[in-house]
Amino acid sequence: MRRKLAAGNWKMNGTASALTELGNLAYSCKSAKAEVLICPPATLLYRAANVCVDSKVSIGAQDCHNATYGAHTGDLSAEMLHDAGATAVILGHSERRADHDETDETVRAKAKTAIAAGLTAIICVGETLNDREAGKTLDVVRAQLAGSLPDDTSGTTVVVAYEPVWAIGTGKVPTVEQIAEVHNDLRASLVKRFGGETANAIRLLYGGSVKAGNAKEIFAVAHVDGALVGGASLKAADFAPIVAAL
Ligand code: G3P
Repeated sequence: MRRKLAAGNWKMNGTASALTELGNLAYSCKSAKAEVLICPPATLLYRAANVCVDSKVSIGAQDCHNATYGAHTGDLSAEMLHDAGATAVILGHSERRADHDETDETVRAKAKTAIAAGLTAIICVGETLNDREAGKTLDVVRAQLAGSLPDDTSGTTVVVAYEPVWAIGTGKVPTVEQIAEVHNDLRASLVKRFGGETANAIRLLYGGSVKAGNAKEIFAVAHVDGALVGGASLKAADFAPIVAAL
């Protein structure tokens, strides 16, 4: 049985004052059945982890370097993130793939390092609008999945997030049939590569304009094990109902 996961990606939002909101969320989630994860900017990781001590909310990071240490000015290693209190890291988000030219190969290397440091790697895949309109959604997502996941992936060290690029921050959400098609296909690809036991333990999140108003419908789709939420994770009042819908 896969434990449901509600993960919030704060992206480049939040200074110290956001910690009050995080405290509110921890309070609102005290009886949450699902696992709750908030990924604030790296500057807040340590303080966020302290705010959430003894709560149901865990803290994650939004990226890591693929090296363990060394001359990489401005970068952070997975071990540093773990040391700051992170239990997970988002990798290969479409914004990083676009803004930093991250390839599947880079994402895979980062995932290996993250897992070795004891972090859960939340690996993002998803098609652009052009891909979808050209009928290439499944091909694109399959290729990203194949290229970004390390071979020694296990059901507990990796989570896959399907985030159609055109649904991120736009208020546009795929139909439940479109989500089901991709999630079924992701599960089938995982089974083919890793075998049933491992594949069926890997959680598949949907991300892209998830809100309190559409969460229930999305979570009812087979093979949707939770969500990766951007905008609606910034305020406890918006995120807590999404957590409760799981
Ligand atoms: O990683 C989460 C994200 O890309 C979705 O963002 O704002 O559409 O929920 P949003």
